Amino acid sequence: MKKFKKIGLTLLIFVLILTTAACSSETDAKPKSGSGEKYSFKLAHITPTDHMWHKAAEKFKEELDKRSDGRMQVEIYPASQLGTEADMVQQISSGSVDFGFITAAYLSSRAPAFTAWFSPYAFKDLEAANAARDTEVAKKILGTLDGQGIKGLDYLFAGNRVMLFKDKEVKKPEDMKGLAFRVTPSPPLQDFYKSMGASPESLPLPEVYAAIQTGVIDGMDMDLDASITNKYHEVAKYGAVTNHMVWPAVALMNKDKYGKMSDDDKKIIDESIKAAAEYAVKTRSAQEEEFKKTLSDAGMKIYEIDQELFEPYIKQFDEKYGPTDPLIQEFIDTFRK
Ligand code: BEZ
Repeated sequence: MKKFKKIGLTLLIFVLILTTAACSSETDAKPKSGSGEKYSFKLAHITPTDHMWHKAAEKFKEELDKRSDGRMQVEIYPASQLGTEADMVQQISSGSVDFGFITAAYLSSRAPAFTAWFSPYAFKDLEAANAARDTEVAKKILGTLDGQGIKGLDYLFAGNRVMLFKDKEVKKPEDMKGLAFRVTPSPPLQDFYKSMGASPESLPLPEVYAAIQTGVIDGMDMDLDASITNKYHEVAKYGAVTNHMVWPAVALMNKDKYGKMSDDDKKIIDESIKAAAEYAVKTRSAQEEEFKKTLSDAGMKIYEIDQELFEPYIKQFDEKYGPTDPLIQEFIDTFRK
C-alpha cells in the first residue's frame, strides 16, 4: 500500500511538472502586451506627392515600419484619391481609413476650436509654431475631436500662408479692396480677408490655377510649396511672402483602433508621428529661401509687407473669435505676447 502511495505521488508530481511546462511555453509564445500584432493601415490626405505633407506621410510610414519591426505597414492615398477632406474624415471616423492628414482649416468646420490656429501673425516663424504643438492648449484643441470617433494625434507644419496676386502689386492691406481673392472655405480665413475689403472666393485647390489664369480671381491665399508644385508663377506675377498664418495639417486616427492597441503599440504610433512632424518642419524651414528663389527665378516678383500694417485686422480677428470659444481665447492669450 505504501509502495502504491509512493508511485501515485510520483505520478502526480510528474503531471504537475508537465502541466506547468506546457503553460509556461504557451505564455512565452504569446506576444508581450500586444507587441506581436500585425497592422495594415490606410492613410489619406489631399496634397500631391511632391508636397511636404506627403513626404511627412512617407516618413511616418518608414518610422512605423522601423519601430514595429515591420508589424505596422501603411498604404498612403495622396491627392484626394479617397475623396474630399469631408469624405476622408467620415472614413476615419467609421474606421474604413485609419489615418488622415487633414487641414486644420477643414477641421475648424467640425470642431470650432481649430479656428485658433488661424489667429493672424500668432507666431514669429515656423519653428515657433512647431513649438506650440507641445502646449496644453494645442493638445486640448486636438481633444475636441474625441466625441467624433477621432483621435487627434499631432500637428504637421509645412510652410505658412502667403498671398499671390495675378497682376497687382498689393503693398498694404487696403490695396486688397475689391479683389476677388481665393481663400480656403473656412470662415476665419475668409473673415480676415473680408475685413481688408477683399471678396473671398471659396475654391478647392484643383480649381485655382484655371480661375486665376482666366481672371475669375485676382489672387489667392496659398503656401509656398503649393505655389511651386501647382506652378502658380505661370499665372500670378506677384508673391507677398507675408507668412500671416500657419497652415497645420492635423494627424488623425480612428479612435477605437487607437484605443484597442497595447500601450507599447500606442507609443510606436505617437513617436512615429512626432518624428514625421519634426522631419516636416525641419526640412521645410530649411527650404524657405530656396522656394522664394525658385518662384523669383520663374518670374514672380517676391516681396514682403510689413506686419504692422495688418495690426488693425489682427485686432479685429482676436476680438471677433476670442469670445466664441474658451480654447480660442486661451490660444490667443498664450501666444499673443
Ligand atoms: C490649400 O487649399 O490652399 C492647400 C491645401 C493643402 C495644402 C496646401 C494648400
